[in-house]
Amino acid sequence: MDNIVFDFDYAKACVTSNEIKKIGSQLIPEIENIKKSLPSGYETDYASVHVLSDDHMLESVTYLVNKKKKLHISTLVVIGIGGSNLGTIAIHKALHGDFHNKKNPDVKIYFADTVDADYLSDVMYLVEKELCSGENVLINVVTKSGTTTETIANFEIFLNLLKKYKTEKYNDYIVATTDKDSPLWDYAKKHAIDCLEIPKKVGGRYSVFSPVGLFPLGFLGVDIKNLLAGARSILQDCLDEHIKKNPAMVSAAINYIHYKQGANVHDIFVFSKYLRSFGQWCRQLVGESVGKKFDREGKEVAVGVTPTVSVGTVDLHSVAQLYLGGPQDKFTTFVSVTPKAEIFLPKIDAFEKFVENIQGKSVSFIMDSIIGGVKAAYASDKRPFVSVHIPGVEEIYLGQLMQWKMLEIMYLGYLLHVNPFDQPQVELYKKETRKLLEK
Ligand code: PA5
Repeated sequence: MDNIVFDFDYAKACVTSNEIKKIGSQLIPEIENIKKSLPSGYETDYASVHVLSDDHMLESVTYLVNKKKKLHISTLVVIGIGGSNLGTIAIHKALHGDFHNKKNPDVKIYFADTVDADYLSDVMYLVEKELCSGENVLINVVTKSGTTTETIANFEIFLNLLKKYKTEKYNDYIVATTDKDSPLWDYAKKHAIDCLEIPKKVGGRYSVFSPVGLFPLGFLGVDIKNLLAGARSILQDCLDEHIKKNPAMVSAAINYIHYKQGANVHDIFVFSKYLRSFGQWCRQLVGESVGKKFDREGKEVAVGVTPTVSVGTVDLHSVAQLYLGGPQDKFTTFVSVTPKAEIFLPKIDAFEKFVENIQGKSVSFIMDSIIGGVKAAYASDKRPFVSVHIPGVEEIYLGQLMQWKMLEIMYLGYLLHVNPFDQPQVELYKKETRKLLEK
């Protein structure tokens, strides 16, 4: 694992290195497939890997970011759902938490995903307030298909609002990110709205490094070059056929072994409030990619790992009892971070008796002790886990983490013999919804 800057420790995964090696070796044909696919660019299912070296795509994104910055935007509204916004939210929240933007507090950001009237009316109120006071609002509508109910409904609402205040040139304040020739693409072209293309074979949940994530993140001041550099830097390792060098192969193999032994829940346990949305991005990646009714031959199999997200230390006071005492049906990935900030507790003697040994200590020392305590408790009861530690919440490490996860899940799909790129069952509820909408 030569290029990796995060620590990946699987000593407590409760599987032997021989078992990992045996399962890992089954992945070699898939690694060869991915490597062979690289020169064909966007033609294959592994197109998301090609995004990382597409300079032309990065140029178009950067051009549009600079063009829209000239409009002196006060508020960005990202409209999209699922794979079309979870990656953006994951990175934005990792860097800024629930704050709009720590680096550039003048630009506010809102995400319009679901069709929740109460939430929408609040966002509409805030956006209208900006428009009303003469500020400029940019809408980035992101939908691969261009036909997702929630996204189109929300786009119509905000488009209407925008047109009310920008009677001329409203179209300057919109960027549409979509598949070429989707209905949204055609609409945008007809109305002179700037478009960014999502390559056909880059699926939603694998699209964070495409214009889907790069445009809004770049606009908000995220170092997208470093994000891509992080993703690229881990690629070679994650495509290495030697299991000891390949963290994606190792984690897919461990996941698979536990799944086969009955641990069908995979908990991403992040010990950073800022990484909650990264956990939610992982949840979608796992859920949609390997939760499948049919295998690659069309045989009914109904497989799937159930992904959960826990945030430490808060969730130790909510679900730790279940995780440490309940059924042995879980496999955990702990994610921790070295914080930038250093805060020391004051020394107040009166509190010594409340909690011993914390007076005068740093907050991160207390956090590390809790993480250590949790891992020791898991290990003592043979509750399997792997640990990932990043040196800071920065673009480079986020790029690495996300690329590692995407390849891990492609490998897990291969081991489970399901297609990790489609989501056919999602159509079921969409079909039923359409019937109800007709009424
Ligand atoms: O990962 C996926 O493919 C899905 O979650 C989609 O991103 C989601 O359904 C939204 O689809 P679209 O981008 O077409 O609006």
